[in-house]
Amino acid sequence: MTKQILVVSASPRGSESASRTIAQKLDARLRKEFPDAQYVYRDLAEDHLPHLDGSTLKAITSQDAKEVEENREAARLSDKLTAELLASDLVVIATPMWNFGIPSLLKAWIDLVVRPGRTFRYAEAGVEGLARGKKAILVIASGGVFTDGPWKPWDYVDPYLRQILKFIGIEDVQTVRVEGLNVPPLVAAAIPNAERAISELALAEA
Ligand SMILES: Cc1cc2nc3c(=O)[nH]c(=O)nc-3n(C[C@H](O)[C@H](O)[C@H](O)COP(=O)(O)O)c2cc1C
Repeated sequence: MTKQILVVSASPRGSESASRTIAQKLDARLRKEFPDAQYVYRDLAEDHLPHLDGSTLKAITSQDAKEVEENREAARLSDKLTAELLASDLVVIATPMWNFGIPSLLKAWIDLVVRPGRTFRYAEAGVEGLARGKKAILVIASGGVFTDGPWKPWDYVDPYLRQILKFIGIEDVQTVRVEGLNVPPLVAAAIPNAERAISELALAEA
């Protein structure tokens, strides 16, 4: 049963943001499909999450229990964001492409939630994801086109996000692209294409 849906948004462009516009359409479909789920919105443009500092690193990665205890306060934000992710059955990540990758706002969230002992662990057989059984939907807005064509190898958003989600155990990932926003002949179709992609998403119970 899908009990909680976490929507992480990274664009600072408010109502002008294509990724937010499409994430809202997705949200409307999800609310129809899962009316009883709890919806949690993590707005990274409002949050301004900090980069990892020395204390936080000790608190979330140290093997030394005393060091972890001494820096416990610094782990609070990571504790909260990690718990929010682990309590969710479906994670929506809506992001622009910036310089062929993700905005640092989103990277800061990733650095706080990809945490040893919480969302992954080092097991005998290698790294084991601890966020298994969840699903994810990526909403990616870009000026160019990256699903196909000469710029496809320049896409460090979709492959990276899929890799990092797989690392923590989330392998059921779908992507909705809003692309060609800076390509005059394509811009008019960008939003309608993304809306169609939303209607075609497979949304079985997580
Ligand atoms: C700082 C910055 C960097 C960008 N870099 C790229 C890029 O590398 N490739 C691309 O196709 N579009 C790029 N764009 C265009 C955005 O991806 C596009 O405007 C998209 O709509 C942004 O998402 P949003 O509308 O949700 O904010 C960039 C835009 C900005 C502001």
